[in-house]
Amino acid sequence: MNNILRRGRLNKDDPNVLSYLSSMDTDRHIFTADLLVDTAHVIMLAETGTISRDECTRILKGLENIRKGGFERLDTSYEDIHISIEAMLIEMVGEETGGRMHSARSRNDEVATCIRLVLRNELLTLLHNLISFRKTILEIAFENKETLMPGFTHLQHAQPTTLAHHLLAHHDALARDCQRVLGAYIRTNMSPLGSAAFASTGFEIDRERTRELLGFHALVENSMDAVSTRDFVVESISAFANIMTNLSRLAEEMILWSSEEFGFVELDDRYASTSSIMPQKKNPDTAELMRAKTGTVDGCLMSVLAIIKALPMSYNRDLQEVTTHLWRAAAVTLGTVNIASGILHTMKLNKDTLSSSSNTGFSTATELADTIVRTTGLPFRTAHQIVGAMAKGSIHTLEELDRISMKIIGKKLSEEGMDAKLFEGALNVMENVNRRSAVGGPAPHEVSRMINDRNYLLMQDIDTLMEHVNAVQDGMKRLDDVKQSYLWR
Ligand code: ARG
Repeated sequence: MNNILRRGRLNKDDPNVLSYLSSMDTDRHIFTADLLVDTAHVIMLAETGTISRDECTRILKGLENIRKGGFERLDTSYEDIHISIEAMLIEMVGEETGGRMHSARSRNDEVATCIRLVLRNELLTLLHNLISFRKTILEIAFENKETLMPGFTHLQHAQPTTLAHHLLAHHDALARDCQRVLGAYIRTNMSPLGSAAFASTGFEIDRERTRELLGFHALVENSMDAVSTRDFVVESISAFANIMTNLSRLAEEMILWSSEEFGFVELDDRYASTSSIMPQKKNPDTAELMRAKTGTVDGCLMSVLAIIKALPMSYNRDLQEVTTHLWRAAAVTLGTVNIASGILHTMKLNKDTLSSSSNTGFSTATELADTIVRTTGLPFRTAHQIVGAMAKGSIHTLEELDRISMKIIGKKLSEEGMDAKLFEGALNVMENVNRRSAVGGPAPHEVSRMINDRNYLLMQDIDTLMEHVNAVQDGMKRLDDVKQSYLWR
């Protein structure tokens, strides 16, 4: 047997079993990361004297050729990418040199490091896309501070609001999502390398050096924790699931709003599909898939939680099964943020429908009751009863209000301070919105303030993102510089 992994302890193998054991398919995601980890590790081994500088150069040259060949050139009959790369290296530079790369490490710390390297980039890309989506929402909100629309509770017309106010609600959820992604990023961007199988190593290694070369901001210190924890994966997929849940609510609204019944928006053709039989159809399939893919990401989160629950310390092969769900959840979430952003950016608003619809269903009833309280001094509960009784019928006039209040409290409200002007004001939709100027309310000047504040916070998030991106790039640059100095020595 010439399988470099199995040839010592094991005498038999079976292609079916090997394929069952294999993570090769999923490992394509960590191809580049694995070579970076190898590079940082062998440089550190040379610097600490475990291998010679010549050996380091030869190994790095081999790794460089493997990198150029790409994932497709690897022998996929090996059970994972780590051993496949090592086997190829040994084939290229000989075992006397290539066989030294795996000193002072294990695939356990190696794979954990690779996952963190790839995931941190996915998190930064996601953060970037979320930020640009937030910017799009803030721009649309800015244009629609006075675009009236009905606000709903229980999907029934409740009170008038504006499109800007409605969109800011979605924006704020995504702003919190950015914080969650950042939190996951901080705890992902840590180095487990040097933990070896779990017990660290007796070689004189320098974990700080590999941490620095790979641009991690800290170590996952305890070597047993470092190889065995996947809590950063749970945290990341939780953040993905939260994003998807927030986006699925937006998707649901796009589906409803683009229906004949609502008619609030028309999706751009590129985000719609049609029917193979009904020629007239314009269906919101992208939004439907956003809604569905939320289920996919939720499933990934549940799978990961179920796989890692009750695993004893330290590394268990079960952990290999986690990674597929992670990459799937990350890809789906990234794709969905982009689609959602595109849908909003290109949709056509039917402002007339939005506005006329804001006035239906007696949506100003609350303001009428409030006005009665403010002008007559009646308790709110009594005003609520009077307006509620009026809402049952279809006549909404001051005379009708008097007739009903006579029946309920034995007084005409027009004799208690209510007049036609106050009555009309309460029923005016724009006036309703203008009066709701308490913090967070839909009054245009309050929404304006909120948009300004959010634009400021957005800039801060952009700064934070850039700091992290630069730190990662600095790390990668440092690694490449040192690598080049070995390659050209
Ligand atoms: N392919 C494995 C994973 O994805 C890493 C290998 C660790 N294997 C082992 N038998 N200790 O987790």
